[in-house]
Amino acid sequence: MAKKLYNPNWESYWRLWQKVGPPWLTPIQDIKFWEKRILEIKKKDKKIKALVLGATPKIRDLLAKHKIDTTLLEANKSMYVAMSRLIKIKNNEEKFICGDWLNADKIFKKNTFDFIIGDEPHCNLSFKNWPKFFQGIYNILKPNFNFLLSTVISDFSDRSTIKEVIQKYKDNPKYFKDFKNRLWELYKLIGEKNIYNKKTRGFIFDNLRDLVKKEGLKSGLSLNQIEKNLWFIDNDMNSESIGSYIEVDPPLEEQIIIQSKYFYLDKIFKVDSHPAFNIRRAMILKSKKLK
Ligand SMILES: C[S@@+](CC[C@H](N)C(=O)[O-])C[C@H]1O[C@@H](n2cnc3c(N)ncnc32)[C@H](O)[C@@H]1O
Repeated sequence: MAKKLYNPNWESYWRLWQKVGPPWLTPIQDIKFWEKRILEIKKKDKKIKALVLGATPKIRDLLAKHKIDTTLLEANKSMYVAMSRLIKIKNNEEKFICGDWLNADKIFKKNTFDFIIGDEPHCNLSFKNWPKFFQGIYNILKPNFNFLLSTVISDFSDRSTIKEVIQKYKDNPKYFKDFKNRLWELYKLIGEKNIYNKKTRGFIFDNLRDLVKKEGLKSGLSLNQIEKNLWFIDNDMNSESIGSYIEVDPPLEEQIIIQSKYFYLDKIFKVDSHPAFNIRRAMILKSKKLK
């Protein structure tokens, strides 16, 4: 296990991963967006190698479907084992390396991979480490090679107050049964006090949970109602599943500026079937030729 992770509590995540859906889990539309590019890369060279940042099941299924020689780099072996229970297609060409993304260029030599792919990896790293992260990935890719990734952003314009969200729940509890609706209502609380730290760009789940709990109880809802219907998932009122997670979500523009030191933004994609996808973008980056 890597020494110091920004968010260290992953063991319970596989349980969580079965209960939640997109946009937290990789949407099928993003998979198709990346798949198109992967097929173009494969057309030029049949024997290609991919690096996955993390152990995301849907990405691994995609690479298994196309029989791609795959290496996973993930800091928690337990997370890898847990996510492996959720994959649908076995990839005999898959290898696992337990290590830190911030050391990617110490673990792998330049030119080892034809592309690198990850679902929101950097949103798990402290914002001050983002330049180092992109530099490390750049260092192991040839110029003009592909970095396929997704990101969570904070510059969606819709905002709600906690009182509005609770009222919406009371008026229409059925609406909150859908995970995407619930997620969207909770992310729209980003403007409430102490939920988003502008300095660290952190979306602070502990503070959001406290706010939903406190205001929910104050409005006459029971803890059980809050836990089952208002919060992302049940069994998390005392941080049992999500833990003290901080998601690093800068505005998209800032992300583009940071990555642009090493990468061109070749393509960007947003699912538009539901407003909850406002928080997410899938991208295809191409490494620059710097010298
Ligand atoms: C929210 S979880 C999974 C996210 C991903 N979207 C998925 O579906 O697999 C984040 C993962 O990032 C891993 N992680 C966080 N920081 C890391 C780092 N510095 N190096 C390698 N893995 C890291 C954690 O161990 C965890 O498995």
